[in-house]
Amino acid sequence: MGLTKQYLRYVASAVFGVIGSQKANISYVTLRGGERGRYVAVAACEHVFIWDVRKGEKVLILQGQKHEVTFICPSPDGVHVAVGYEDGAVRIFSLLNGETNVSFNGHKSAVSIIQYDALGARLVTGSKDTDVIVWDVINESGLYRLKGHKDVVTQALFLKDKNLLVTCSKDSFVKWWDLDTQHCFKTLVGHRSEVRRFLRCIYSLTEMTSRFHSSNLLISAETEQLQSETIHLTGSLIEWRLILCAGSILREARDRVVSLRTDTKNRIVACHGNDSVLELFTVLSEEEVQKKMTKKLKKAKKKAAKSQEETGEEAAEPVVEKMLKDEIIRLMNIKASAKIRSVWVDCLSCAGGELKVALLLQNNTVETYSLKTLDKTPTANKTARLTLGGHRTDVRTLAFSSDNLAVLSASGDTVKVWNRSTLQVIRTMACEYALCSLFVPGDRQIILGTKSGKLQIFELASGSLLETVDAHDGALWSLCLAPDQRAIVSGSADKTVKFWDFELIKDKESGQKRLTVKHTRTLQLEEDVLCVKFSPDHRLLAVSLLDCTVKVFYTDTLKFFLSLYGHKLPVLCLDISHDSTLIATGSADRNVKIWGLDFGDCHRSMFAHDDSVMFLQFVPKTHLFFTAGKDRKIKQWDADKFEHIQTLEGHHREVWCLAISPNGDHLVSSSHDKSLRLWERTREPIILEEEREMEREAEFEESMAKGDVPVVPGETQGEAAPAGKKTIETVKAAERIMEALEIYKAEARKMEDHKYACEHAGKELPPPKPNPILVAFNVTPSRYVLDVIKKVRSSELEVSLLVLPFPYIPELLQLFSSYIQQGLEVELVCRCLFFLLKCGGCRLDVMGFNSAALQFLQREIESKEDVMFFADATGKLEEKKKKRRKRERAILTIA
Ligand SMILES: *[C@@H]1O[C@H](CO)[C@@H](O)[C@H](O)[C@H]1NC(C)=O
Ligand SMILES: *[C@@H]1O[C@H](CO)[C@@H](O)[C@H](O)[C@H]1NC(C)=O
Ligand SMILES: *[C@@H]1O[C@H](CO)[C@@H](O)[C@H](O)[C@H]1NC(C)=O
Ligand SMILES: *[C@@H]1O[C@H](CO)[C@@H](O)[C@H](O)[C@H]1NC(C)=O
Repeated sequence: MGLTKQYLRYVASAVFGVIGSQKANISYVTLRGGERGRYVAVAACEHVFIWDVRKGEKVLILQGQKHEVTFICPSPDGVHVAVGYEDGAVRIFSLLNGETNVSFNGHKSAVSIIQYDALGARLVTGSKDTDVIVWDVINESGLYRLKGHKDVVTQALFLKDKNLLVTCSKDSFVKWWDLDTQHCFKTLVGHRSEVRRFLRCIYSLTEMTSRFHSSNLLISAETEQLQSETIHLTGSLIEWRLILCAGSILREARDRVVSLRTDTKNRIVACHGNDSVLELFTVLSEEEVQKKMTKKLKKAKKKAAKSQEETGEEAAEPVVEKMLKDEIIRLMNIKASAKIRSVWVDCLSCAGGELKVALLLQNNTVETYSLKTLDKTPTANKTARLTLGGHRTDVRTLAFSSDNLAVLSASGDTVKVWNRSTLQVIRTMACEYALCSLFVPGDRQIILGTKSGKLQIFELASGSLLETVDAHDGALWSLCLAPDQRAIVSGSADKTVKFWDFELIKDKESGQKRLTVKHTRTLQLEEDVLCVKFSPDHRLLAVSLLDCTVKVFYTDTLKFFLSLYGHKLPVLCLDISHDSTLIATGSADRNVKIWGLDFGDCHRSMFAHDDSVMFLQFVPKTHLFFTAGKDRKIKQWDADKFEHIQTLEGHHREVWCLAISPNGDHLVSSSHDKSLRLWERTREPIILEEEREMEREAEFEESMAKGDVPVVPGETQGEAAPAGKKTIETVKAAERIMEALEIYKAEARKMEDHKYACEHAGKELPPPKPNPILVAFNVTPSRYVLDVIKKVRSSELEVSLLVLPFPYIPELLQLFSSYIQQGLEVELVCRCLFFLLKCGGCRLDVMGFNSAALQFLQREIESKEDVMFFADATGKLEEKKKKRRKRERAILTIA
């Protein structure tokens, strides 16, 4: 190896193996005018995958960045999808091209619900941070933040034809918000479950039709019941009649409701708990209810007549009361093949009664069903099942074929072989719980070591299991191919290491030759064996033991050579460099140690991960190696210089294992997040100082994202607060505005000096050279500031203004005033002004930006254009203050 070492960067290349992540819901979407019920959107870690369920293919990926997807909601017109993320961000994607150009940042933690209004013009989002935010989709800006819930917001709905919002939360409250005034005018306490007060979580809520023309029916689900609340709307906002409980329906399941959905026409209610049964209910139409009631009445009359006959007494005219169970009736149950995580129902043609059901299951599977709701006894036909592209349980072992082209992954019940370039599954074979694996030289067979101590040999061409060998009496943790490629060694929890030779034997059944392994030698140890590795020169065998040591033996005589002491917890992974000089060990104690294989001296111990080091492998033909940690990270190291080179971040849960391709160009990793990730080596060199600098920046960004929502004077205690939060983008935008203002100020100073100089000289002097930026854009300084503001993303504008340091504000206000006088970008300028005035009241007071000046601006604006919005805004501010006072009084009277 030369003196100057060049490290090449590995980058993320693909995510595969995940069909549907558990953090988010499933949803039907329509794609390019395609048929309904054919495409589903599910989260795949940080991305959203759109699957064609008919073909079982992934047809579109909505690329995420870093954080996991937590909610998916298609727009009413079916053209867009709003996606919520773990960090609180919401992005809107186009289903036409999979691109996103709108993002809303307002929540501090995971988005738990997203809903559009009926027109798709507004979006409401709820979050784990307990806030509800209403966004203007068309102007790409936040409208208001509604505070009041005390726990995760689980549902939020715009009521039809009313400027009202209903939200519910795990805090058991259902809140009704008047969006005109942005206040909560009604809180439904405890979901009427005083009797069952230990289970007061409302998980879901859905609005039914408003077919009783003056009332809306809401259904909420709690424990074993579905309840429904009717609200009577009587026109005037103040005259709210109380919300009535319309009754409840008993579910069959006795556990908590995990999710509740209705189709868009509100004909079907689907509901499930934490099990595999989906319960479906039908909401009857008004005529159906009438018919039912008439029948009921007839029956009651008959009964009354009968009893009259028997007793001879005159009975009162019978009355039948309409109950919820007369309106919502049980349709059927669907039993899925695993526990259900999320459901989406779509009525294809409600008249024809064709219903499509998409289920995301808890074992990385999607199932779809279709049924005819009008049938007397409907049956649900399973129409599709997406299982091929991933494992049901975690992948514990990975291997690369010797030609770098195929990748093996094995889980608790299946082993799959993937084409590395297309990431298509070539083979799927049932196996026992696999812990370790390898390709047999020639890449025609694979061998797995299992939890039950067996060796399983599969042939790839036929996809068949050739043989299962009872190899050990305990979990078979580790397998290693001998350097001469003619044998393997296995290490097990039964405290033995066994040597096996490859052999070809004649198969009894087929009469053809097939591969088998023949046991040749056994090395007995005192402790469970966790890991075994030959040195590439075949001279030594390293064995890691449960007692935290690694013992090295001579391969030929099995005599003890060295013991490597030092780790405080067992060594879970180890590897020996290609030249048999170094051995690197990774342990549950989070450290990696590098040892010389000649004397067993520890060259260096490095703190590697924030949790157990699960896997370690040298990059072939180098002294560089990769480690994988339970801390979700993969890291690359230099074993000569003891340097940490690069961290590969992407997995959202524990990383279990890695495999490096024999040519070192690719890396695959598997994680508890169910994803397999492919990484590839680029030609880009890594400069370590820059790498560390980037890591620090990322950390800064993270800490900023975690920081509080900016404090807005006078607004923080209220129920409504400005939407939006400080992000790296808003800070950068604010910086750009500041730079522009600096240029503007410098130019103004220059002009001032120039004027002075001219006066002094008594003649016109040549004007000073303007700033090159202004020359480049060919604009005046004041126009330049406006252009910079125009370029700030609409959704980030307010927060960017908010984070502007205080001394810049007067300058900016003066500029705004001049823009308005010139009639430039009046709408944008008004929006900025309105915002600064609304939330910066005390700032302006401090600055002495007096009301006379404000009124001047107001007159200017109104004279320029017919915009009332400014007057409206200041008026509104007053109104709001009054309202708040009023509300406080109201609360007092209630208490
Ligand atoms: C569902 O059950 C599994 C165990 O079977 C449990 O780990 C999980 O937390 C449960 N989920 C909910 C939402 O209760
Ligand atoms: C998981 O999914 C598969 C679908 O391939 C199904 O057959 C299996 O029974 C499911 N359930 C569990 C609990 O693994
Ligand atoms: C379900 O399958 C049965 C038998 O294959 C068929 O008769 C029925 O029409 C199917 N139902 C639906 C809703 O497709
Ligand atoms: C992988 O797919 C590519 C492209 O379809 C094909 O050329 C190649 O032969 C495949 N490799 C394997 C190992 O199946």
